[in-house]
Amino acid sequence: MSTPLQLAILGGDGIGPEVVGAAMNVLEAVAPACDYQYDATHFPFSATHFLETGHVLSDEDVAELRNFDAIFLGAVGGLPNDPRLAGGVIEKGILLKLRFDLDQYINLRPVTLYPGIDTPLKDKAAEHIDFICVRENTEDLYCGVGGFVRKGTAQEVSNQTMVATRFGAERCIRYAFELAKTRQRKLLTLVHKTNVLTFAGDTWYRTFKEVAEEYPDVSTDYHHVDACCMYMVAKPEVYDVIVVPNMFGDIITDLGAAIAGGMGIASSGNLNPDGVAPSMFEPVHGSAPDIAGQNLANPIATIDSLGLLLRETGRIKGHTAAVECGNRVAAAVKAVTPKFAGKSLDRSGFGTDEIGRMVIDAL
Ligand code: IPM
Ligand code: MG
Repeated sequence: MSTPLQLAILGGDGIGPEVVGAAMNVLEAVAPACDYQYDATHFPFSATHFLETGHVLSDEDVAELRNFDAIFLGAVGGLPNDPRLAGGVIEKGILLKLRFDLDQYINLRPVTLYPGIDTPLKDKAAEHIDFICVRENTEDLYCGVGGFVRKGTAQEVSNQTMVATRFGAERCIRYAFELAKTRQRKLLTLVHKTNVLTFAGDTWYRTFKEVAEEYPDVSTDYHHVDACCMYMVAKPEVYDVIVVPNMFGDIITDLGAAIAGGMGIASSGNLNPDGVAPSMFEPVHGSAPDIAGQNLANPIATIDSLGLLLRETGRIKGHTAAVECGNRVAAAVKAVTPKFAGKSLDRSGFGTDEIGRMVIDAL
């Protein structure tokens, strides 16, 4: 038995604490079977906490979170039109700050149609929708480079600069090739917009071509991001692994979630693959304040993110019991999703607790 994994839990806002609660029950149930030990420490960082205390997330808080093996996050964000939260204070102050400060340079987002889950795509089934997006997570338009000139006047100018570095593109592309190498199809597609973004796109394209030389077993393809959106709807089976810069990755992974059954199912991991800082795992969905506190939220995406947390953290830390636990959670989720056949994921009629128990029974 190895030393317990140290988990930092950020339940967050809205449905966040409920779905994380359901996932933590799953963790408690699966851990003994894998001879797996963990310690969970809860942190309050959220929009709610900010509105109550004025505190978002400081450098000292991040330094404290650095000591953990992984971070598990529910959802952060308040009501969309709350003027006190304008300007992305929570998104930038918590989510993006953690991704950037902890150098979580990979955002891993699987797009898999699970058994029993409906896709809005006509004539598409599980064999057509099974790919994974590797989204760069620390550069691009997310760097916040830019500003205003003459703000508030008729001559107002604003610009926001896309940042691509050779270093950032290369480490992300390398990660994607390594991942593609482990998959059955071994096909990696770069998604960008090189016909218009002739600088940033060129850096990515040349880097992709150069790194590809080192992976003769991996087949490669390139799609412009607009064409990618079309293929994801019309021919999702063309994809195995996609590597994509941050902003386009944000957009296409929402589309990915939609074709795989919606936000109720989409899981994600913000990885620091080198293990020098903790990775962070979260469902792709937001805090859904309208249904918070009513035992209505579907915790499947969060439970699946927990599976990803255990598997990926276990791999990064060389902790085999955690990997084993993660695989069990993933298998239990797949065993439960047939119960949603013919129902919508977010209005399934099953309560948050009940779905959590279904997964525990399936373990
Ligand atoms: C996501 C979200 C975030 C992003 C927002 C909330 C900042 O959309 O995780 O995809 O743009 O990355
Ligand atoms: Mg998004």
